[in-house]
Order: sequence, then C-alpha cells, then structure tokens
Amino acid sequence: MSKMAVVPGSFDPITYGHLDIITRGASIFSEVYVVVLNNSSKNPLFSVEERVKLIQEVTAHLPNVKVETFSGLLMDYAQNVGASAIIRGLRAVSDFEYEMQITSMNRVLNDEIETFFIMTKNQYSFLSSSIVKEVAKYGGNIGELVPPQVETALKEKYKHQQ
Ligand code: PNS
Repeated sequence: MSKMAVVPGSFDPITYGHLDIITRGASIFSEVYVVVLNNSSKNPLFSVEERVKLIQEVTAHLPNVKVETFSGLLMDYAQNVGASAIIRGLRAVSDFEYEMQITSMNRVLNDEIETFFIMTKNQYSFLSSSIVKEVAKYGGNIGELVPPQVETALKEKYKHQQ
C-alpha cells in the first residue's frame, strides 16, 4: 500500500541533519513531501522560495521526495494532501518536550495522522539551522554541516558581515 509522509519544518536553511531524516523517511515511505512552513511571525534568513530551492537541489537524487510550502495548521495541510504520517527528527533529550507538545496538539487536531520520530545520525545530533547560521556568520567552517549549495548560499548572505 502506498503511504505518504510529510516532513515539516522551517529549514532556514536545510542542514545535513535534515537531509539525513528526509533520506531515512524516503527509504520507508513511498512518497515524502518536505514542506516549508510559510509563517510570517518568524524572521527567517532565507525567503521561503530560497529555502524551497535549496531543498529541491539537495534532494534532487531522491525520486520520491517533493518540496512544497504550507501556511496555517500542519494537520490541515497533511489531511489535504492525503498524508498518513508526519516525520520529525529527534536529536537530544532537549528536543523531546517541544516535540511532545506539538505532537500532542496535532493529535487533538487530527488523531488519524501518526507522527513518527527518526533519530539523526550521531554525528548530526548537535546540529541545528541556528547553530550553522551562527558559525557561518562569523566565517567558521560549515562544510561538514550543510551541503555545498547551502554553504555557498550562507556565505552569500553573510558576505558583508565578516
Ligand atoms: O523546523 P521547526 O521550526 O522546528 O518546525 C516547526 C513546525 C513547522 C513543525 C511547527 O511550527 C508547525 O507545524 N507549525 C504549523 C502550525 C501548526 O500546525 N500548529 C499546531 C501544532 S503546535
């Protein structure tokens, strides 16, 4: 039976940690939609269009991965596209409380779409978009943390700040 899963997030920008989760999800589900939250209350470094383009570039080798955007409630989006699952990445224990909160809320909204957690590779367990941006901003080496396209895009964003 074909099962579709949604990997939601801010992806500002996508890291090797995200890519690891997407790759693992795509090996289990027949189709995976990576969806970028278009939420005006956050102050992202990359526009939604830039984030989508970067994700498309770095997932181009995964034939069952599609990249979209969404606004509003995740569960409404997931139901509209016929998803049977949400996939979230888990790094350290510190992620647990936040993930439990949003998963519990999502369950109240829709109990039929299951949330699955995938642990990242150990080497990415400390990695976040925020930490990558912090290092990139001050010219640190991020080559092992993000794909080359993302490294280039970050350097371009911060070129006047160093
Ligand atoms: O990458 P992030 O910022 O941790 O992703 C958070 C995300 C996008 C999964 C979460 O903010 C979300 O689902 N937002 C959509 C609004 C929503 O559905 N809220 C209800 C559950 S808290």
